[in-house]
Amino acid sequence: MIKNFEGKTAFITGSASGIGMGIAHACAKHGMKVCIVDKREDALEEALKWYKERGYEASAIALDVTDREAYVKAVEKAEELYGNIHLLVNNAGVSAGSTVWDSSWNDWDFIMGINCMGVVNGIKIVVPRMLKHGEEAHVVSTSSTGGVFAVAGCPLYNSTKFFVSGLMETVAADLEGTNVGASVLYPGPTNSQLGFSSQAVRPDALKDANAPVFAPPKDGEAPAMPAMPDFTQIFMTPEELGERVIMGIERNDIFIWTHPEFKAGTQLRNDAQVRAIPDEPLTEKRKERAEALKFFGSLTYNPMYEKQTTPPGLAEDWDRSKE
Ligand SMILES: NC(=O)c1ccc[n+]([C@@H]2O[C@H](COP(=O)([O-])OP(=O)(O)OC[C@H]3O[C@@H](n4cnc5c(N)ncnc54)[C@H](O)[C@@H]3O)[C@@H](O)[C@H]2O)c1
Repeated sequence: MIKNFEGKTAFITGSASGIGMGIAHACAKHGMKVCIVDKREDALEEALKWYKERGYEASAIALDVTDREAYVKAVEKAEELYGNIHLLVNNAGVSAGSTVWDSSWNDWDFIMGINCMGVVNGIKIVVPRMLKHGEEAHVVSTSSTGGVFAVAGCPLYNSTKFFVSGLMETVAADLEGTNVGASVLYPGPTNSQLGFSSQAVRPDALKDANAPVFAPPKDGEAPAMPAMPDFTQIFMTPEELGERVIMGIERNDIFIWTHPEFKAGTQLRNDAQVRAIPDEPLTEKRKERAEALKFFGSLTYNPMYEKQTTPPGLAEDWDRSKE
């Protein structure tokens, strides 16, 4: 939980473009010192200009989030520059593969290394430092609406995003009672460079011959996908999304949703889970088991979820010209 952003330090991975950039811009506008962190050094340098032109305190740190030694060094560099880190955003992510059976082992290793272990690396390296300095702090990790219910055709991406959801809910539970809050971010469609950057950051060792290559999108364009209409004017802008993330951190929300369009689908999936639980009378034996399960902490019921309320949201005509 961060109530006052002024003068605090943010460390945001995957922030050379798209959603990470939008969050980083919002952090700067709210008075934070910002470390933009990304594997694409050229994109980082380009991104840094925005802060310099506006006189915001920001630095670019090149990092591949899968490299643990380099991650520690990047965090040490951020601390040298700006002192304690108060906000960690595990946002670097990629897409890969098709069905489980048609995707290659390289697809799996590539996507899980970044989308899953990249997030673990950030938490394992930064959160102990936050707990140690004791000032108000927060960790956000970017999942996806595909981390809440199934989207046909994207099992690799979906499963890594489900991983992020489960991880962050448990991290939030483990951080209860500390000065560090935790949120999982579920962006809906947002203009970004994901199609291009997923190709650009893929190490040679994990590339497959004959894999399709997308053309790089122009600045601010949606990911280039074959045979897709141009949704750039319809998708959310990273700037708007960034404001919503700031609001979620301030509210200490476990779940940060950006798009109201996903309510019915989420409800459908969660209701199906509840319906699938057998409705059986509590026999003496079952009552005994229910009592025994209370020894396992929040195994059957976690009151943490009761705290989540509905955010006020932004006005429908959130002014794009202010971006
Ligand atoms: N754009 C959307 O509609 C959308 C929706 C839901 C979730 N997401 C998620 O949002 C996050 C940001 O993606 P985006 O859509 O803004 O795309 P983006 O390509 O604009 O940003 C992703 C950034 O992550 C960086 N990156 C990738 N691998 C890295 C690594 N190993 N180390 C460091 N940096 C690395 C890329 O260079 C890129 O700058 C991702 O986790 C993505 O899965 C995006």
